[in-house]
Amino acid sequence: MTLSFSSSTALITGASSGLGAEFARVLAGRGADLVLVARRRERMDALADAVRRAHGVHVRVHTADLSDPSSWDGVKAYTDAEGLSISTLINNAGFATYGPLVEARARRTDDQVQVNVAALTALTRLYLPDLVARGGGALVNVASTAAFQPVPSMAVYGATKAYVKSFTAALAWETRGSGLRVTALCPGATKTEFFDVVGTEDAKVGNYETPEQVVATAMRALDSRRTPPVVVSGANNRLGAFVGRLAPLRLSLPLTASLMGR
Ligand SMILES: NC(=O)c1ccc[n+]([C@@H]2O[C@H](COP(=O)([O-])OP(=O)(O)OC[C@H]3O[C@@H](n4cnc5c(N)ncnc54)[C@H](OP(=O)(O)O)[C@@H]3O)[C@@H](O)[C@H]2O)c1
Repeated sequence: MTLSFSSSTALITGASSGLGAEFARVLAGRGADLVLVARRRERMDALADAVRRAHGVHVRVHTADLSDPSSWDGVKAYTDAEGLSISTLINNAGFATYGPLVEARARRTDDQVQVNVAALTALTRLYLPDLVARGGGALVNVASTAAFQPVPSMAVYGATKAYVKSFTAALAWETRGSGLRVTALCPGATKTEFFDVVGTEDAKVGNYETPEQVVATAMRALDSRRTPPVVVSGANNRLGAFVGRLAPLRLSLPLTASLMGR
């Protein structure tokens, strides 16, 4: 069954590039009005224009730095002021840093936890009552294959994504029967601006998927009669996640460290 999003509004964080921009195009193609959230306003304005022209939906743009806790209530205040009822939330904003923690810049590390974990949690908490009351929509929290085992050289990033996976799977259970579809999307390496932000491709494992492939995986999960609480994109990534989940730490730590180029 292809889920329709017409007469509904989807809020997408990290909508200025990569997976978030692709979610915007796909959901608009299925009839959703959109609220785009990120820091880079011009990028989102350009995407909003393109999506309006292509699909005739309403698109609003809200600029927010999600590393700042005051922005979380700010997002909700914005959608309330616009009179919007959000029935689909795509918590996609996120980034990673690379290298041993002992050499890390404290601020970037702390911001990573704020954006990948705290903002995602706060926005989920703020919108979940609406999502459940409306039913029929979706909550997609973007995790990663990094969620399936500790990741030396990306210790904070891997831990944030393990949180996202665990948090989302628990919510899938808590909201069962409400009509809301809940999934933690776990991409592997994907051709976006992600590795530009990381600053190196040393952390890349396996071949790139495209944002189109990853978002198609998410949409298939949402369309299925039983949306899986966790979905991994790509056959090789599914195999890697399976191994990561089962392997004892004495094997998975050195293996992951060597895959991370260290
Ligand atoms: N690409 C991969 O290989 C890969 C693999 C697994 C998981 N993921 C996950 O996929 C999600 C999307 O990443 P992507 O691959 O599409 O990378 P991307 O192209 O770099 O996009 C990241 C998005 O997050 C937003 N963002 C970052 N920091 C923010 C902040 N402080 N406040 C608000 N928005 C912020 C960025 O917007 P602004 O810079 O405009 O704020 C951008 O729109 C992330 O959660 C990432 O961890 C990616």
